Amino acid sequence: MRKAIIAGNWKMNKTPAEAKALVEALKPLVKEASCDVVVCVPAVDIATAKAAAKGSNIKVGAQNVHFAKSGAYTGELSADMLKEAGAEYVIIGHSERRQYFGETDATVNQRVLAAVNAGLKVILCVGEKLEERNAGYTDALVEYQTLIALTGLDKKQVEKIVIAYEPVWAIGTGVTATDEQANETIGVIRAALARKYGKGTANKVRIQYGGSMKPSNVKGLMAQPEIDGGLIGGASLKAEDFAAVVNYDK
Ligand code: 13P
Repeated sequence: MRKAIIAGNWKMNKTPAEAKALVEALKPLVKEASCDVVVCVPAVDIATAKAAAKGSNIKVGAQNVHFAKSGAYTGELSADMLKEAGAEYVIIGHSERRQYFGETDATVNQRVLAAVNAGLKVILCVGEKLEERNAGYTDALVEYQTLIALTGLDKKQVEKIVIAYEPVWAIGTGVTATDEQANETIGVIRAALARKYGKGTANKVRIQYGGSMKPSNVKGLMAQPEIDGGLIGGASLKAEDFAAVVNYDK
């Protein structure tokens, strides 16, 4: 049995003071959660969010990481920096990074390796655009994105990766993939993992759905056998909404 994991992706929202307030509001609301609870916050909020989450079941994550250990990369943050600031998780390869910041499958792979080597837990994002789905490329694309991103990891390392399947057309649009669509594509990702790393490994990897997941649709999505959690954007910015998603089984 895989333990569910629900993570908030705050994107570029919340100042440190606002982050503190949101984490404090969340703490009592999610304390009975049966899943892992993570908030992936802007880097400047990590230390504050970590301090606010102290003594609770809320884990803190970052939203991106550079692949070099250190060096002349103005404006970037290394895995060691994020970890020392208090991040336990890091999102890598979000479609907004791919779309607006030139992220490629190759650099996603480099970032995954850097994060894993530094002891950060990775939430790897994959997903197709609408035109790719309409052209019938969804399965091939998510398989390719996933396997490239994991290149260089051994089975034990792959087991610990969390994958977020986020169809780009469902992000921030209010349009959710149907429960069956999400389940089917996540099944495709797991089958690809099984072919490359064996069934035992594939069955341990937690695969989330992301894209307009919210209190009103979380139950149906989480009832699907392949879906092990969610990566939540908009609905993670209000304590009551995120708590309602986290407490989907209550
Ligand atoms: P929304 O939940 O706002 O659609 O965002 C999903 C997402 O991109 C999470 O990473």
